[in-house]
Amino acid sequence: MPITQNTQQIVEKLKQGDIVAIPTETVYGLAGRVDSEQAIRKIFSIKERPFFDPLIVHVKDISQAKGLVLHWGKASEILANAFWPGPLTLVLPKNPHKVSDLITSGLGNVGIRLPKHPQALEVLKELGVPLAAPSANRFGRTSPSRAEHVLSEFGEELFILDGGPCDVGIESTVLWVGESSEITSLSILRPGKITETQIQAVLDREKIPYNFTHVSTKSSPGHMQHHYMPDKPLIWVEGEFSEEEISEKTTERFQKIPDEVDGVKIKKSLKYNKGQVLQFSMDPILAARQLYSELRLKSEMECDFIIFKKEEHQFGEMWGAFLDRLSKASSLKLVSSSEDKK
Ligand code: TXA
Ligand code: MG
Repeated sequence: MPITQNTQQIVEKLKQGDIVAIPTETVYGLAGRVDSEQAIRKIFSIKERPFFDPLIVHVKDISQAKGLVLHWGKASEILANAFWPGPLTLVLPKNPHKVSDLITSGLGNVGIRLPKHPQALEVLKELGVPLAAPSANRFGRTSPSRAEHVLSEFGEELFILDGGPCDVGIESTVLWVGESSEITSLSILRPGKITETQIQAVLDREKIPYNFTHVSTKSSPGHMQHHYMPDKPLIWVEGEFSEEEISEKTTERFQKIPDEVDGVKIKKSLKYNKGQVLQFSMDPILAARQLYSELRLKSEMECDFIIFKKEEHQFGEMWGAFLDRLSKASSLKLVSSSEDKK
């Protein structure tokens, strides 16, 4: 049985240097032990992931995280205590003896997080070795928030620990932390459930001096413009468009876009007749939880493309990560001229 609830079986596989899928509170991860080059190579190969995109390392507790880095300062301690276990990845200077260049794509920093899912923690504790784990999907494609999603990505070969649907539903916030004696520099490399405001509130409370820099996500690894893409093309629609207009404009515009962007293949056909509209909760937390299931569900339905209708209430920090993923998942954006003027 590739989908299992037997944690011990999963731990045994990992002990042998094999890779498995594990649940986390964000999305399912494709996990291998950090000290096995064979396991790490296998992660890249079955995901078809390029080696320039670094992996996040998952730890069982704060002390294990400290063992992976060269410097663990006051800001890291405060952030870890405030948000771990939870959906925050800290990018810190790595200890090169503990974290290979394969894991970090040759970078001097490593992304670390302590996940909140009880079964992920059970596996990490039982194994005693940190786990490198990217989201358990093929490169550039929609992330999995249920065990069945992983099964549909990789088939029966992979052992999957079933931990039910993921509570958060989108990947962790990735925070770069540059600590020095005077001031801590911070930068959000990937938005997630933990927001900049929440991070600031914690540091302010503890009187830690910091400054946030806003790097273009293009300059951080693994932030290609096209990512999280479902099997059918997703069209982002903002403003008033009739079904017919969407279908016409999509057909017209697809003739012009390339077959491949950032190494991700854009699936195209000659005519786009029928679209399925994504449906989400008005609550950003619930909408995030629904996101990847909804993308998969609609792309499996009879249709030529999927439509995301951006609603007026979907703006601001709480919707940031949700909109970021949909923006990167979309092959095309139709924005009406009245929206342009806003
Ligand atoms: O919620 C999550 O973070 C999930 C679960 C499984 O933990 N993992 C996940 O991993 O989303 P992945 O590989 O799909 O995304 C990792 C991203 C990389 O693409 C990169 O943008 C960033 O995290 N990252 C990882 N290590 C980094 C590093 N050393 N420096 C800069 N960015 C890094
Ligand atoms: Mg991913």
